[in-house]
Amino acid sequence: MSIELVNVHKSFGEKKVLRGFSLVIENGQTMSIIGASGSGKSVTLKHVIGLLRPDVGEVWVDGENVARLDQASVYRVRRKVGFVFQFAALFDSMTIAENVGMGLERMETFSEAEIRDRVESCLQRVDLGGYGNRMPSELSGGQRKRVGLARAIATEPDYILYDEPTTGLDPITKAVIDELIMRMADDLGVTGVVITHDMESAFRISDRIAMLHEGKNRVEGTPSEIRANEDPVVKAFIEGRPELLETA
Ligand SMILES: Nc1ncnc2c1ncn2[C@@H]1O[C@H](COP(=O)(O)OP(=O)(O)O)[C@@H](O)[C@H]1O
Ligand SMILES: [Mg+2]
Repeated sequence: MSIELVNVHKSFGEKKVLRGFSLVIENGQTMSIIGASGSGKSVTLKHVIGLLRPDVGEVWVDGENVARLDQASVYRVRRKVGFVFQFAALFDSMTIAENVGMGLERMETFSEAEIRDRVESCLQRVDLGGYGNRMPSELSGGQRKRVGLARAIATEPDYILYDEPTTGLDPITKAVIDELIMRMADDLGVTGVVITHDMESAFRISDRIAMLHEGKNRVEGTPSEIRANEDPVVKAFIEGRPELLETA
């Protein structure tokens, strides 16, 4: 069981975003995909849940090529995958509990009491037990992110995709979110794909890190392998030293 991108190409008009991106994410791992803003990280995640289809290439989730599935099968695969959006993306007119329970309601297999229990236990997992009746506007940015995470785990997915979970957060809140991402991996055994341009987070939470650069996988390895990498493109990014690129 794994997620595998094989030679994925994706253009929007003239703009070639992915140009043969390949990556294997083994089950049980937390993989961070790093890369500059606009490099195609969010586009990559959208391919995994079949929101985008590649022009060329394959996107395998548990042995099924999402790129070739019909819409009903895409929905079935998507149920295995939780998605934590970049800006929490909560519905402001719904309570926290309603936001977290959305996916469970949609499955039409649980009673209201079961949903209430499951929602509360997911909120407890992100240290927001008892917050179900509040409205999103009453919560801080970090708490909203945690609600987004509770919503992603409510349907018990095998995979969670995180789109810049710590961007824009202060260092303390960031550490809290990192801690939760690690907890999801350890306690729930969930496979994580985290896209980020935050190296501190990436080094902290990842089993492996890949760098998306000019549409391709520039480098992939353990955090210590990435730290030791001599490629100027990689070093410039992880050390925040653009001057290294002048010699690249
Ligand atoms: N649906 C779309 N239509 C046209 N262009 C898009 C679309 N989605 C993304 N792009 C473009 O693809 C590039 C990569 O975007 P994105 O994956 O969001 O970058 P990031 O690495 O910051 O997440 C950007 O130039 C963006 O404008
Ligand atoms: Mg993005």
